[in-house]
Amino acid sequence: MIHIPKSEYSRRRKALMAQMEPNSIAILPAAAVAIRNRDVEHVYRQDSDFQYLSGFPEPQAVIVLMPGREHGEYVLFCRERNAERELWDGLRAGQEGAIRDFGADDAFPITDIDDILPGLIEGRDRVYSAMGSNPEFDRHLMDWINVIRSKAHLGAQPPNEFVALDHLLHDMRLYKSAAEVKVMREAARISAQAHIRAMQASRAGLHEFSLEAELDYEFRKGGAKMPAYGSIVAAGRNSCILHYQQNDAVLKDGDLVLIDAGCEIDCYASDITRTWPVNGKYSPEQKAVYELVLASQEAAFAEIAPNKHWNQAHEATVRVITAGLVKLGLLQGDVDELIASEAYKAFYMHRAGHWLGMDVHDVGEYKVGGEWRVLEVGMALTVEPGIYIAPDNQSVAKKWRGIGVRIEDDVVVTKTGCEILTNGVPKTVAEIEALMAAARTQAA
Ligand code: GLY
Ligand code: MN
Ligand code: MN
Repeated sequence: MIHIPKSEYSRRRKALMAQMEPNSIAILPAAAVAIRNRDVEHVYRQDSDFQYLSGFPEPQAVIVLMPGREHGEYVLFCRERNAERELWDGLRAGQEGAIRDFGADDAFPITDIDDILPGLIEGRDRVYSAMGSNPEFDRHLMDWINVIRSKAHLGAQPPNEFVALDHLLHDMRLYKSAAEVKVMREAARISAQAHIRAMQASRAGLHEFSLEAELDYEFRKGGAKMPAYGSIVAAGRNSCILHYQQNDAVLKDGDLVLIDAGCEIDCYASDITRTWPVNGKYSPEQKAVYELVLASQEAAFAEIAPNKHWNQAHEATVRVITAGLVKLGLLQGDVDELIASEAYKAFYMHRAGHWLGMDVHDVGEYKVGGEWRVLEVGMALTVEPGIYIAPDNQSVAKKWRGIGVRIEDDVVVTKTGCEILTNGVPKTVAEIEALMAAARTQAA
């Protein structure tokens, strides 16, 4: 399995600590287990920041980083080994495993944190934490600080500054290393296979969830534990619902089906959308809309390179889509004016993409100092223009209504432009129709 090597987690901790102020401490909790219903838990997914710095997959754990500390800079609080609990729930690293397998300089039972952590914080000037994102943990942190304050008369020195960790950490996460790109390529490869399998299986009369099953099969077979987000399988007019999740309608002859789905490998997401005809052949209207979205995506790729800013790709899609909608007779007027008045938003109401990484909508600022961020090597993003013609849009001819098309690929900025990670799925009308025709011939 392709994964992030242990050495990379150590490098990340060192890089973060190098940016922290002297005599400071960073504290991060693992994700909590979420109850689904009664005795059933949601599948556990580690918090992305926690995972980024530790690779430690268990709940009930806390990372503590103390740059320059003589007796070890990285302390991990985690669950103790427990034969009975491990019989029911699975193995635990324990404190020994945290040191041996996860690079902690020291490790303590999570049940001892109230006794030990105030002593580690005491005397440090500044505390870095993800303030506001986990109210329960914020409360614990204040309790630990208050323990120190209550001993001030004995000479204990509580910290004076509390700083959001996000700014440093999320900027680091925005730049993907070679190892991260490798994992993202693998997630993209598996997701591409999943889309191909769903295209091959596509038939009128099936339900949307039948295609979701094909996706899940390839994800799992490829080694992905889970999708990076709820798969969208949207047939016919459902394709005009941007985050459709119901996935239970019947696929009809003559309709399109839009699938937005990607798996996660070692907590790195992929995010692919393809839109194809249920019966394997695009109608003239479907083809016209599809090829317009595709042309806008091509225009966006050309605007992704170092020194171009974040919004240039979006602007390129807006121009191509607006001009194309006028040509098709779906918008009337002057292209520049239609762009200025945002008339295109009736058909294209979302942005051309987002950062991609451990979170599908990944962290990282889009603007710096009020200006769109300039792209740099290693930044990963999606490129996902779309056109959605509402089923009840009375201002267009009936033949267009209910057509929704999105095409989404994942890219990483390179020295000369960008690498498309998700090229493994057919994308032109000819390629998709050929793939679907071949699948039908084989099945017949
Ligand atoms: N799958 C969510 C998105 O494309 O942003
Ligand atoms: Mn998507
Ligand atoms: Mn996306």
